[in-house]
Amino acid sequence: MSKNYIIYTYGCQMNVHESEKIAGILSSKGYVKCESSEDADVIVYNTCCVRENAEQHAFGNIGMIKKLKKQKKDLIVAVCGCMTQQGNFADKLASTFPYVDIIIGTFNIDKFGDILDEKLRSKKKVIEILDKNGEVCEDVTPLRSSYPNAWVNIMYGCNNFCSYCIVPYVRGRERSRKLENVLKEVKGLVESGYKEITLLGQNVNSYGKDLNDGSSFARLIDEIAKIDGKFRLRFMSNHPKDITEDVVRAIANNSHACKAIHLPVQSGSTRVLSVMNRKYTREQYLDEVEMIRSIIPDCAITTDIIVGFPTETEEDFSDTVSLVETVGYDGAFTFVYSPREGTKAAEMDGQISPEVKKDRIMRLVDIQNERNRVDSLKYVGKTVEILVEDYDKKKNAYMGRDERGRMAYFSFSKNLVGKFVQVEITSTGGMSLLGRVVSVEEER
Ligand code: 5AD
Ligand code: SF4
Repeated sequence: MSKNYIIYTYGCQMNVHESEKIAGILSSKGYVKCESSEDADVIVYNTCCVRENAEQHAFGNIGMIKKLKKQKKDLIVAVCGCMTQQGNFADKLASTFPYVDIIIGTFNIDKFGDILDEKLRSKKKVIEILDKNGEVCEDVTPLRSSYPNAWVNIMYGCNNFCSYCIVPYVRGRERSRKLENVLKEVKGLVESGYKEITLLGQNVNSYGKDLNDGSSFARLIDEIAKIDGKFRLRFMSNHPKDITEDVVRAIANNSHACKAIHLPVQSGSTRVLSVMNRKYTREQYLDEVEMIRSIIPDCAITTDIIVGFPTETEEDFSDTVSLVETVGYDGAFTFVYSPREGTKAAEMDGQISPEVKKDRIMRLVDIQNERNRVDSLKYVGKTVEILVEDYDKKKNAYMGRDERGRMAYFSFSKNLVGKFVQVEITSTGGMSLLGRVVSVEEER
């Protein structure tokens, strides 16, 4: 009988794709994915420590597996991802959860298969956290689970040390994959039917700088433009300090590239941005938004915002609100600041109380929700091209997104997942769009 595995993923797309790599390793060893912990022979927790709630969520779930592990002695429980890579966290994990069999960090995820073999052979707990920047992983074939989208790492790590952020400590310095390897992967994915390619990096604009061979993000976009076939190109994230006209022009000239840019601002106050070590001012950010819109007039712009950063005053927060209103974002991910051990901001005086943070985030979310609601209404009566991503069982409808990233729901009698369809928007459901399919693109 085959052995089963299940992977629980916390955090961002980077982690979702890393889980696909672990799934690839496990499936090459003959393991089959299952749907519940009870049926699993291997359970993997791929953790995230970027924000406190993802960390607590993982911690709670690892705690809950104790009972099952007692009943099922041969069950292997593994914990990986960036939570394990912090300070002495791996030891803390091992002592809090003595039943965890494998603890590995972010730099040796590609060795998961060997580590599992070692555990099965030795029957001893394996803890392997490498304290180095790690290599660029090229030899793991992911088992993808997000068709029609495919995630593609273009670089790993981050050099920026924003004062609130744990990423540079747990993911090491920037290292780019070779341009030809990225291109080969993208071509292969398009040939095998993926309809959306999302390039991943903490700061995609600095892609290639470490390679010293003339590679750059703009060049990568230009090369991807030459690939035949109908597919969408997306990427994340951009750091506002590095986005250049070259890159924006490359996006404008690439028929595959969605006219949508995720440009995390974090705060609208120049003073807070400076303490965050973001290396741009409010005015420079607004100039960039203008530059983007002068090259791509209808470009969707989305962002990440942190509220309640240490020392943030009501006036600083008002600056954030006014920036949000000035830019008119197509979407914003809003986060309450959470102190991360080892980062500069965690040591700062002037930490903000939970009540104030909550009040500010609620005000901000209301403003952005209202904006999204009004934007959605503008779609009514228009026909938009949607890439169908999934069937939503609860809503009893297919769902997909337009180029700008806006979600739409509609029914249809045949399976549409992975197809480009023209949808006439008939009404809205809060932020999302509701419509009817006008036509389905023929396969070429
Ligand atoms: N607290 C709250 N939000 C954070 N982010 C990163 N670190 C923290 C933190 N300590 C947010 C930033 C980043 C997104 C991925 O997570 O907005 O862009
Ligand atoms: Fe964190 Fe800043 Fe790097 Fe983004 S750019 S991963 S926020 S340090």
